[in-house]
Amino acid sequence: MTAPTTAPARARTHPDWWQDAVIYQVYPRSFADSDGDGCGDLAGIRSRLGYLRELGVDALWISPFYTSPQADGGYDVADYRAVDPVYGTVGDADALITDAHALGLRVIVDVVPNHCSDQHPWFLQALREGSGSPLRARFHFRPGRGPGGEEPPNDWISLFGGPAWTRTTDPDGTPGEWYLHLFAPQQPDLNWDSTAVRDEFRSILRFWLDLGVDGFRIDVAHGLVKAPGLPDLGRHEQLGLLGEQLVPYFDQDGVHEIYRSWRTLLEEYPGQRIAVAEAWTKTLDRTARYVRPGELHQAFNFKFLNAPWDADGLRELIALSLASMHAVDAPTTWTLSNHDVIRHASRYAEGDPARGLRRARAAALLMLALPGSAYLYQGEELGLPEVTDIPDEVRQDPAFHRSDGGHGLRDGCRVPLPWSGTGAPYGFGPVPGGPAWLPQPAEWAELSVEAQTGDPRSVLELYRSALHVRRSNPALGAGRSVEWLDLAPGVLAFRRDSEAGALVCTVNTTGEPVRIAGGGLGALLLSSAEPQPAQSSGQVLLAADSTSWWQAG
Ligand code: NOJ
Repeated sequence: MTAPTTAPARARTHPDWWQDAVIYQVYPRSFADSDGDGCGDLAGIRSRLGYLRELGVDALWISPFYTSPQADGGYDVADYRAVDPVYGTVGDADALITDAHALGLRVIVDVVPNHCSDQHPWFLQALREGSGSPLRARFHFRPGRGPGGEEPPNDWISLFGGPAWTRTTDPDGTPGEWYLHLFAPQQPDLNWDSTAVRDEFRSILRFWLDLGVDGFRIDVAHGLVKAPGLPDLGRHEQLGLLGEQLVPYFDQDGVHEIYRSWRTLLEEYPGQRIAVAEAWTKTLDRTARYVRPGELHQAFNFKFLNAPWDADGLRELIALSLASMHAVDAPTTWTLSNHDVIRHASRYAEGDPARGLRRARAAALLMLALPGSAYLYQGEELGLPEVTDIPDEVRQDPAFHRSDGGHGLRDGCRVPLPWSGTGAPYGFGPVPGGPAWLPQPAEWAELSVEAQTGDPRSVLELYRSALHVRRSNPALGAGRSVEWLDLAPGVLAFRRDSEAGALVCTVNTTGEPVRIAGGGLGALLLSSAEPQPAQSSGQVLLAADSTSWWQAG
């Protein structure tokens, strides 16, 4: 077990590293491929830790790299204590954690407790033993409804399309019970009423904590407990992948007891190990329940990710986010992208890629000026857009294939990163012209890390500067609130105060430049705008869709 040996070079305002940490999500399949098989791997991540350190983040969250048939990009785990050979070995994970710690980077890994793979030994054995086997109590097996049990046990629809139930065949070849899978049929839901399930996951957490990880991102954290009796939904519709509706399989009160026990377990380990919930809830108050004292450390704020680019709406949402988390004494988290959603440079574009990129740059500076912890998704620091022209035959999102292409376009945000060079795979793999598991657009030569490094106008250098300023300026990240400023319609502005000084953040969300009085703004620290805003005659022109940080007096 290792612990970070180098404290991140960051001005600290409180002892809890995670309260204002910037955490970088690595999607391992698409980050860096060390062996040239077209798939990223742990050795690839390890070889790029220096890049992450230099970028200025505090920690990495690595999406699943466990043994998996990859029916859902690794979110179908067959062995929670082993690394899939595609990604390496547990020894590689150990070496990665050790190296990261030596660089002052913490490492968070995914835990996938709502479901496992249909190739998990528990599920295979439960199938083999047939209806009535006590091992089936670890899952949700039920007889079907209607004559011959031919209808699913209830009306739930999988989030990836089609029924949330699949019928099994008994060992004697006759049609048997059905099992529940909120996601793909290859992802049977575990039954968290089972003591064996609860014990197993506590043991899995310990396995990775003993190896030295600094925490966990909990997949579908709101899904573990289902309403008693698995009642019908009453409507026959496919909910969005990560819907926020009130349904009998999400956000049930019973999940909190599980997280209280996990918190106790995390506290047994030295060095502030943390857990962050992926919990899509109807309201921020419901999200806050996951981070009450004695529960998890953080929960993703998906309302921010989904918020339109509009000053008034953003202000309302940010204020509500801060208030909701403050009420339970937890930090807010902020995130703009992840491996499940359209990259924000494209989401914000509304048909105009240049506008999308301007807004993406501005949104990054807004996010990094807010109190709390920020999650970055690999490639956003390069301004990568969503890839929309991936041929159907290479797409791997299970929802795509289960919905005839109507859903499941998540491969578009998972295209392997461009690191260097002028031709694919752009340094993603070791061999020029070598494979990448998804095709990379030709335009990505200009977006590579190499191409952007040293160009002060690049998105990469903007992120580097922003993270550098954030590390050295405690007015950013720390605290629980902001002081709102009313400067002009369409301009979101707030002030952050700390012992080390004050900072003002201005965000022009309009498509036009806005002139404001410059008094009180102070010196410009950083701006997403090109050219940078200048003050003249006491006035400042804020460029369209831009954010600026000012060192206030
Ligand atoms: C949420 C994960 O982020 C997503 O990628 C996955 O498909 C589902 N949970 C199911 O595990």
